Order: sequence, then structure tokens, then C-alpha cells
Amino acid sequence: MMPLNVYITRQIPDEGVNVLKKACQKVEVNPHDRPLTYDEMLKEVRGRDAIITMLSNRVDARLMQEATNLKIVANYAVGYDNIDVKAATVRGIVVTNTPGVLADSTADMAWALLFSVTRRIVEGDKLTRAGQFTGWAPMMLLGGDLVGKTLGIIGAGRIGTAMAMRSRGWCMKVLYTTQSRRNTVLEEMLGAKRVDLETLLKESDFISIHTPLSEKTRHLIGSQEFSTMKRTAYLINTGRGAVIDEDALVQALRNRQIAGAGLDVYEEEPKLKPGLAELDNVVLAPHLGSATVETRTKMSLMAAENIIAVLNRQKPPNCVNPEALT
Ligand code: GLV
Ligand code: GLV
Repeated sequence: MMPLNVYITRQIPDEGVNVLKKACQKVEVNPHDRPLTYDEMLKEVRGRDAIITMLSNRVDARLMQEATNLKIVANYAVGYDNIDVKAATVRGIVVTNTPGVLADSTADMAWALLFSVTRRIVEGDKLTRAGQFTGWAPMMLLGGDLVGKTLGIIGAGRIGTAMAMRSRGWCMKVLYTTQSRRNTVLEEMLGAKRVDLETLLKESDFISIHTPLSEKTRHLIGSQEFSTMKRTAYLINTGRGAVIDEDALVQALRNRQIAGAGLDVYEEEPKLKPGLAELDNVVLAPHLGSATVETRTKMSLMAAENIIAVLNRQKPPNCVNPEALT
């Protein structure tokens, strides 16, 4: 057993915790059923060799300064915009994430939101529970069809690809944008076309966001983009809230500039921008993209494996800053 000290900032499935307990002398988990405050984080990182962090934890230079023994920050998420990776690299601290294992569950969530908003399931549920379902009606809660429509994928990485692959069931035409290479899987299997953002916004009936949050993608979708979209379009976001200018989204939904939206993430999570919760044409989920038992279990094992590799001076399988290893 290694004389090492690991801290986990929130309770996660036991599988990964048990792996760590077998290998390391001390493994502590935040005992509260709430996120740690930044000040609590500052205290808890002292003396730790490794930490597992949540996407809701800000890991900045000051925090890493306090953690003089820290060798790895294993983020319990695929996105790592909560971590100052440059500051970690400078200090030789390895940052890892949990890619791949959550692509299917997140893509499923994007489709769940897409269906909920286009078929008005949440509005219908509210009405039914309120005793306002007085019988079938020819004009009640009419939504939109999916078959043959155009799906626009913003960010065709693993999750965007999984989202697009599911459109085969509805024979959709697929457009995509990507910051990296052409997606040959989507092109060969679906006849998908890589286009610029403006074309995607103009031509898509459903637009789904899967790009990471960075300075390049912050507010990628704002008032100008909403005015480019079809008035019948639906926007789905299971990536990061700040990729959308949420104030502009509220305006666009209110003015029926677009038909609706399905959101799993928010610009100032967990806060919502004023007006959002009052709108009928948006479905709001509390960041549940990876929230299945299977996926969260795999994420806990993945985070543990990354930590054990680094503590054994090996290359971790999911390193986002390999420069920190040299
Ligand atoms: C969730 O949002 C993640 O990045 O894993
Ligand atoms: C998604 O893009 C992932 O890396 O899982």
C-alpha cells in the first residue's frame, strides 16, 4: 500500500473509492451532501497527493498553490473548464478527465430533451396532474415531427457522434461543425456534412450542442445566431451552459424566434437567468447527462485508475495535460 493521501470532493459510487482504498493509505470523502465551498476546498487539498474533483469545483492556481503535495487532479467529468489546466501544468500537476464512458448516456439525455420539448411532454404532464385533461382534443399541445428533418451537431466529438448516430431511427439529415478533424464516421455512416456554423444554424430543425466550453466557444450562440435559426428550430444543450448566451436565449424563446429549447446545463449553474423558468417552450433538467448508475460507476473507476497510474509514476489513461508529466 502506498503512503498516499487522496481526497474526493463529493460522494461517488463505491467502486472507484474501493479501488483507491486498496492502493492508498488514506482516502477521504466529503461527508456532506453538498458541494464544498471554495474555502473548504482550500483546507481540504492541503497535504493531499491526489484529489477527485467535480465539475462544480473551481480548481485554480491559488488552490493548487495550497496543495504542495498534489500530483493529480482527477476530474469526475469529461469537461474540465472548471480547472486552470495551465496553472496545473506549470506546477507539474497532472489533470485527467473521464472521456468516452459518458458519451452514450449524455447522447441519450440530449434525445430525451429533444423529445420532451418537441412533443411537449412536460407541459402535458403538468396539465394532466393539474386535472386539466378533460379529454382528447384535436388541437391540444401540437408539437413537431422528427422524420426526415435536419439535425445540426455543434461539436462532433464522442458525444456529438453518439447523438448523431441515434438519428438513424428517424432518417434525419445530419450537419455538423467541429474544431478538429473531419468526422469520417458520421460522413460515411450517415452521409453527414461538415458545414460552417451559419449554414448549420440556417438549415437545421434541431440543433444540439456538444462542444467543450473555452474562450472560443463562450457565447457561441447569442442573439445574432438565434436570428439566423429557423423559427421552427429547437435548441438542445447538454454540453456547458455558457456556450449559449442565456439572456439572449430567454429573449429568443419569449419572442418565439425559435420554437423551443431543452437544457441540461446553465450559464451560471445552478442559477437560472431571470425569466427562463417562466417559459413553456423550454424543458429544464438539472445537469443529468451522465447520471446513470452504469456511467457514474464507470466514471468512478476511471478516476481511480488515473490516480493510481500517476501515483505509480505511470502515464494515466486520460491525461489532458501530458506536458505536466515531463
Ligand atoms: C459533465 O457535464 C461532464 O463534463 O462530464
Ligand atoms: C465526449 O466527447 C467524450 O469525450 O466522452
